[in-house]
Amino acid sequence: MSHTTIIAPSLLSANFANLEQDIRACEHAGVTMLHVDVMDGHFVPNITIGPPVVRSIRRITQLPLDTHLMIEEPSRYLDAFAEAGSTTLIVHYEADRHLHRTVTRIRELGLKAGVCLNPATPIEVLTEILPYCDVILIMSVNPGFGGQSFIPTSFEKIRNLRAMIESMQLSTQIEVDGGIAAENAGLLAAAGANILVTGSAVFGRGPIESSLRELRNAVQ
Ligand code: DX5
Ligand code: ZN
Repeated sequence: MSHTTIIAPSLLSANFANLEQDIRACEHAGVTMLHVDVMDGHFVPNITIGPPVVRSIRRITQLPLDTHLMIEEPSRYLDAFAEAGSTTLIVHYEADRHLHRTVTRIRELGLKAGVCLNPATPIEVLTEILPYCDVILIMSVNPGFGGQSFIPTSFEKIRNLRAMIESMQLSTQIEVDGGIAAENAGLLAAAGANILVTGSAVFGRGPIESSLRELRNAVQ
C-alpha cells in the first residue's frame, strides 16, 4: 500500500531560549507537524519540559504538536497536556500498566493517541492495542537524548509493523524517532514510515530550510 512520509522536527534540538524563532523557521519551511519531547528524569535519564512550555508554544503556532511523553505514569498528565494544546499524546508501552485505559482517555480528550516502543521492545506487544491507536512511535535510539546513532535493526521492525498494520486492515500511522538524517530517511520511508522525527538533522546545522529540503528530497 502506498503511503506519504512527512518530516516532524523535534524541538529538543531547537534553541530553548528562543523557541519562537526556530518554530517560525519551521513554519516558513513548510513543516506540518512539530515533535515535542517531554522527559521526567525517571523514565529517561534527562529532564526537559512540561505543560507550561507546551501552552506557550501553542500560543504562537497552529501546527499540530506531536507530544512524546517519556515519563512514568503518563496517565496522570493527559488532561494537563490536552489543556496545554497538544494534538497527539504518545505514551511509552514500557511506562504504563494500563495502556488501553490511557489511549482511550487520550481519545476521549479529543486528541490523537499513540504508543511508543523502546528499541528492545518487540512489536508483538502491540497486537491488542493497535486498533485503539492513531500512531505507533518506533524508537530508533534509546530515548533520552538527541544526536544519537540510529539502531539499524529498526528497519526490519518498521517493515514488520507495516505488515502487521496492513494484515489487520488498520490505518495506524508509523512514526520513527532517533538518529534520522538524509542518509537513512529514504530507506525509512520505503520501509513504511509515515512520520520521521528529526532533531539534530534540522536544528543547529545551518539554515533549517535547507536541512529540511535535503530530508524531504531523501524521502521522495
Ligand atoms: C530522543 C527524542 C527524540 C530526539 C531525536 O529521546 O525522543 O525526539 O529529539 O533527536 P535526533 O534526531 O537528534 O536523534
Ligand atoms: Zn521524541
